Amino acid sequence: MTEQTPKRLFIKTYGCQMNVYDSQRMAEAMGAEGYVETDRPDDADMVLLNTCHIREKAAEKLYSDLGRLKPLKAGRPDLKIGVAGCVAQAEGDEIIRRMPIVDLVVGPQAYHRLPAMARGDAPAVDTDFPAEDKFDHLPARTMNRATRRAPAAFLTVQEGCDKFCAFCVVPYTRGAEVSRPAARILAEARDLVARGVREITLLGQNVNGWHGEGLDGAETGFGDLPGLDRIRYTTSHPNDMGDDLIAAHRDVPQLMPYLHLPVQSGSDRILKAMNRKHTADHYLRLIDRIRAARPDILLTSDFIVGFPGETDADHAATLRLVEAVGFGTAFSFRYSPRPGTPAAGREPVEGAVADARLQELQALLTRQQRAVQDAMVGRTVGVLFEKAGRLPGQMVGKSDYLHPVFVDAPDAQVGDLVPVRIKASSTNSLAGELV
Ligand code: SAH
Ligand code: SF4
Ligand code: F3S
Repeated sequence: MTEQTPKRLFIKTYGCQMNVYDSQRMAEAMGAEGYVETDRPDDADMVLLNTCHIREKAAEKLYSDLGRLKPLKAGRPDLKIGVAGCVAQAEGDEIIRRMPIVDLVVGPQAYHRLPAMARGDAPAVDTDFPAEDKFDHLPARTMNRATRRAPAAFLTVQEGCDKFCAFCVVPYTRGAEVSRPAARILAEARDLVARGVREITLLGQNVNGWHGEGLDGAETGFGDLPGLDRIRYTTSHPNDMGDDLIAAHRDVPQLMPYLHLPVQSGSDRILKAMNRKHTADHYLRLIDRIRAARPDILLTSDFIVGFPGETDADHAATLRLVEAVGFGTAFSFRYSPRPGTPAAGREPVEGAVADARLQELQALLTRQQRAVQDAMVGRTVGVLFEKAGRLPGQMVGKSDYLHPVFVDAPDAQVGDLVPVRIKASSTNSLAGELV
């Protein structure tokens, strides 16, 4: 292969939105090295798996995917295989010992060094939490293949977590909480807007705990950025939901009426055992304050069922909390013991009991999701078109409330933000017409 031929990079992303963002930044960094993205591993010069360690099943996916890459590597020994993300951080060189086809292992705080690693100019395993800020060593946003024409983008503003919930690996895989300075965040947002982005979702493991260097008086805030029509943020912790942020839901028109606020359990006993540092009542009162500021806000959450020590009464308390709030949608997971976390050694809830509780909770959450979607019918909402639908003339986009909406709009373009009247609700999406 000559110097001029571009090399091909295949990236597979597991896990949360922060990993999606990191994959984009890694693609951009490798783009500066002459790599272009491909959507098939078969013709790639480098395969990068950006992994998640949050639950056992998520972590296992890495090893089954690596198993599938073995024959490819056997036929093409110069194919580079890299593992990035949270499993990389947690397992380090153990990954290469278990799977010798892996060439590179890079943790989530060191991926600015990936280009040097790929060239062979840096050690093959890097799970440092470096003192330097990786964002200062990444190329400016060029937008990678997947996002080049996307009107909605992610922007990480905060990383890591100091909360140490008893079940969670994030403080170990992502490290301590770090907030990016406001001026850098705004510069990146301006870059994105200049590339046609109209909606930005600010990301962080505790995004509402952001406490970075502020703006000097001369700078504008997000709400004043011309061309930025929609702002979202995720994920938030109940204990960091300050008055200013709640007021912003009332006062900043670009801030979308949607909030993902994980609560994990409705039982105070379990919340305490999880080290969540709030009660169910604290959460419910918080929801009241948020709804007072923005009555139509759509609320979503995360739940863990079968946490060690959870009784039927604790589970009933979770169902009561869900009934009291009425969520637009929610993720619920069976507890998965994670190595190195405080809860890992505790007596587990019997598998069949945990499964039954999960089913009961999911049935309730599905009913609530459907009720919230059905209540959208007849309303007019904003929809930002993200791509063409499967039917001719059809466009698909997200509503203000983050529902996927299918609209018959033959003359519309990706990136149009239009009012749409909702006509029908189905399992996971809405259908609407242009107003
Ligand atoms: N920072 C966010 C969420 C991080 S992980 C927060 O504070 O809520 C996303 C979700 O995965 C968590 O909200 C939790 O519901 C789930 N999760 C985390 N660790 C888990 C584990 N060990 N077993 C099952 N679910 C888990
Ligand atoms: Fe994990 Fe808790 Fe931190 Fe969320 S707040 S990332 S659940 S330790
Ligand atoms: Fe998974 Fe790491 Fe995100 S463990 S959920 S990819 S922060």
